[in-house]
Amino acid sequence: MTTTEDQTSDGAPTLARVRRLNEHVGETVRVQGWLANRRSSGKLLFLELRDGSGTVQAVAHKKAIGDELFAELEGLPQESSLEVDGLVKADERSPTGVELSVTGARVVGRAEPYPITKAVQEDSVDFLMKHRHLWLRSSKQVAKLRVRARIIKSIRDFFDGRDFVCLDAPIFTPSACEGTSTLFEVDYFGDPAYLTQSGQLYAEAGAMALGRVYTFGPTFRAEKSKTRRHLTEFWMCEPEMAFATLDDVMDLAEGLLCTIVSDVLADCAPELNVLERDLAPLQKIRAPFPRMSYDEAVALLNEKGHPFEWGGDLGAPDETFLTQLFDKPLLLHRYPHGVKAFYMKRDPDDDRVALCVDVLAPEGYGEIVGGSERADDLDYLLEQIKKHDLPQEAFEWYLDLRRYGTVPHGGFGLGLERTVAWVCGTHHIRECIPFPRMLYKIYP
Ligand code: 4AD
Ligand code: MG
Repeated sequence: MTTTEDQTSDGAPTLARVRRLNEHVGETVRVQGWLANRRSSGKLLFLELRDGSGTVQAVAHKKAIGDELFAELEGLPQESSLEVDGLVKADERSPTGVELSVTGARVVGRAEPYPITKAVQEDSVDFLMKHRHLWLRSSKQVAKLRVRARIIKSIRDFFDGRDFVCLDAPIFTPSACEGTSTLFEVDYFGDPAYLTQSGQLYAEAGAMALGRVYTFGPTFRAEKSKTRRHLTEFWMCEPEMAFATLDDVMDLAEGLLCTIVSDVLADCAPELNVLERDLAPLQKIRAPFPRMSYDEAVALLNEKGHPFEWGGDLGAPDETFLTQLFDKPLLLHRYPHGVKAFYMKRDPDDDRVALCVDVLAPEGYGEIVGGSERADDLDYLLEQIKKHDLPQEAFEWYLDLRRYGTVPHGGFGLGLERTVAWVCGTHHIRECIPFPRMLYKIYP
């Protein structure tokens, strides 16, 4: 470490994270990070230093650090790693409220010319995706990953605090959960197995053992569609409750979403600021959320000039139209059973529909949650398995849950990346997971 003469060197200065620099005003600290940007004006150098927790401007005077170090820093390429010692000064113009007055610095790793320039950032998503390992370093990407991590914690805290037990579902599975058209088949010692589409069926077994459980892990769908909402590998949290009805499922989803948004608003202000997220729509996310049946939705679509025939699944434009009527997530329940999964319970009051719910996020972010009350009757479930052309042998264990003490039960799956996209105001889901997996895209 090169230091100036007037710095007393009774050991290195305290290490400080950029995010907490405002707690060190008046002290000399050491920051370890990377050079995000650099400007110089003759005798002054402005280094934008990022350490993953934030970015701070470090100002170096030639006089204070000497010609040699000044010259080294002046020629330092973007993304070089370095340690900077400096005096923390309050600065009102800075987003972090502080600035660093450099007293010394040491270059740790001089970078080669960095491929991601400002021009590239604005230009080419393909290029950025191929350099995802480096793209992750830019401030908006860092902000999204931090919000994602906060949401994961929020979800876990929510369930852990409500007596749900975390239950890890397997990733290799012998059967389909969400239809056979999106299965990834793998060779399992000579027999076919599938990457899990959903942990739900295992969560149901868990709920019969533990009462209330949630799974949280990666799930896989061989989605052949290229949309801004589909990944082939995404994370899903799936709570499941024994002795629960569709209303319980809807209440739980509503509570979870309110908690997620209020936690992010409370703890991620710097990130939402970097993302230029309009906070007003998020501040409106409070219970109760509007609830509408599919029947009502179809009537409304037709009434408002969006012709829609009863029986089909809602498309993205239909969903967008409906959600625009509200400034909160919309709980859309009781879809025709024909467009939904085999395991859903039929509505005893209306044989045409399933006791299910989709939660549609506001601002056009689409379905973020799908759930239902489960078919708890053995004969009905057997019939559904046949109707959906599923191999009964693979589901015998699941049918056992109805043979040994069946109860009304239900739950839902919350798609993590879609939730992150909504909360962050990110158009495309690919930026809401560190290394997205999509149709024909698996590098890096
Ligand atoms: O609606 P889905 O398919 O429901 C299930 O998998 C149920 N087994 C859940 C349950 O009841 N336990 O998926 C649930 C959520 C969707 O609402 C969406 O947020 C997300 O998972 N999702 C995807 N996210 C990204 N890419 C995809 N291809 C997704 N497919 C579903
Ligand atoms: Mg769904």
